[in-house]
Amino acid sequence: MSAPFIWGVATAAYQIEGGREQDGRTPSMWDAIRLIPGRIKDGSPIDLSCDGRNKYKEDVVLIASLGVSHYRFSIDWSRVMKNGKTRNPIGMEYYKDLCKELRKAGIECIVTLFHADLPLDLYNEGSWLNEEIIDHFVEFCRFCYEELKDYVSLWITFNEIRMHSWVGIVKVEGEPFHSLDMDHTKFLGDVSITRAIMIASRNMLLAHAKVYRLFHEMDDSIRVGLIVGAHSCFDEEGEKITEVSERATKAMVHFYLDPLMSKLNDWTEGVREYLGDDLPPWSEEEKKLMKNTIDVLCLNYYRPHLVKEGAGSSLLEQIFKFTMVDDKWPKIGGDFSWLRFHPKGIISLMDSFEAKEGEEDNYPNNVPILISENGCNDDGRHNSIDDHNRIQYLGGHIDAVLEARARGVNVIGYTAWSLMDNLEWDDGFAVRFGLFSVNLSSENKERTPKRSVEWYKKKIEDEKKRM
Ligand code: NOJ
Repeated sequence: MSAPFIWGVATAAYQIEGGREQDGRTPSMWDAIRLIPGRIKDGSPIDLSCDGRNKYKEDVVLIASLGVSHYRFSIDWSRVMKNGKTRNPIGMEYYKDLCKELRKAGIECIVTLFHADLPLDLYNEGSWLNEEIIDHFVEFCRFCYEELKDYVSLWITFNEIRMHSWVGIVKVEGEPFHSLDMDHTKFLGDVSITRAIMIASRNMLLAHAKVYRLFHEMDDSIRVGLIVGAHSCFDEEGEKITEVSERATKAMVHFYLDPLMSKLNDWTEGVREYLGDDLPPWSEEEKKLMKNTIDVLCLNYYRPHLVKEGAGSSLLEQIFKFTMVDDKWPKIGGDFSWLRFHPKGIISLMDSFEAKEGEEDNYPNNVPILISENGCNDDGRHNSIDDHNRIQYLGGHIDAVLEARARGVNVIGYTAWSLMDNLEWDDGFAVRFGLFSVNLSSENKERTPKRSVEWYKKKIEDEKKRM
């Protein structure tokens, strides 16, 4: 009998924890970003947080109240390794205790090892542009594994690897801010920004593979995954997959996976045509290290992109010669939202790992898929408790996932983003993705269930009965 479907809910350390100076934690790059005047759009000060670090026992009760089987959370590298490099057992105690509480509540742990935030010292040493970071990452992961292995059923090395390697390190014109705007030439000499991004991507992929090998050496039954922020692309009407939409999906999704899980065991076919010498080659040894190092393919899906031929304004569009024409579609999360409601996109994304008729199968291992994130922000028209649009959004996507599963797609779970309203990076706390709202001005950061809480719980119960 196959394992039961995973029903989950997710968060990330920096977005919910606070406790910046607790447990001997050392500063992270996001602490530095938050101190840049005017940078966080809603002006929320650095110490404003949901206080997840101290309210975790109560939060486990909330997680359990949803009826989910799994909780996906991340570990703050800056809390468990001083300056990113030296073990800090006090910081680790917190995560151990969180795992214990979850176990008591009958909830399994999915752990993301890196979710967007880096110890500041490592950032200042060049972040993922500097290959020395790979060993520091492996040591951090080894510590997490040694201390938490009894509790974790799935380890994820990186959250949204493309997002971080493209915009989490250097400043890329035309993309939202996510970095401290590092001058890459300081570390790499006179190379193009594209080359710098490729070097970071390369180092992250090698780091993933090393951690995969290390964890499997310690326990071969362990499962290790990697997350891509996965946008499926369509033609201008949002209906058809065309040559250009396929190219765009490959650039955003498959590019990061093909060295690790495709039969090719190399960069995606055809990308060199667009990247030229900016694309670093792999040695045979590196290819061997990376080969088949994904046990669970984790996809964060929020929206599709509608694209047409011809280079748009962002760096990605310039390189791969496509233009996004997303504005044709209605938004679901209020006027400022980047979300578009198109559940068909999640199906086409999963299908992009299946062989097309008459073509060779590039992914013959049929790696199980986890939808590791999917969610919608409040649309601002209602008070934050009455979240009709979230119910519509989650419901549409869950139904699409289950439809694909019924058709034979190897999708093993769905994890909603997010447990509670949290720090939405540059947008501060103004953009709210939570199933529970958080009263940030109250002293104890009181949580209140939105309508979607009861709805998600019932949806899980109903679907379980049907399975
Ligand atoms: C994906 C990221 O993993 C998460 O950190 C973010 O909050 C959500 N997208 C919503 O933007």
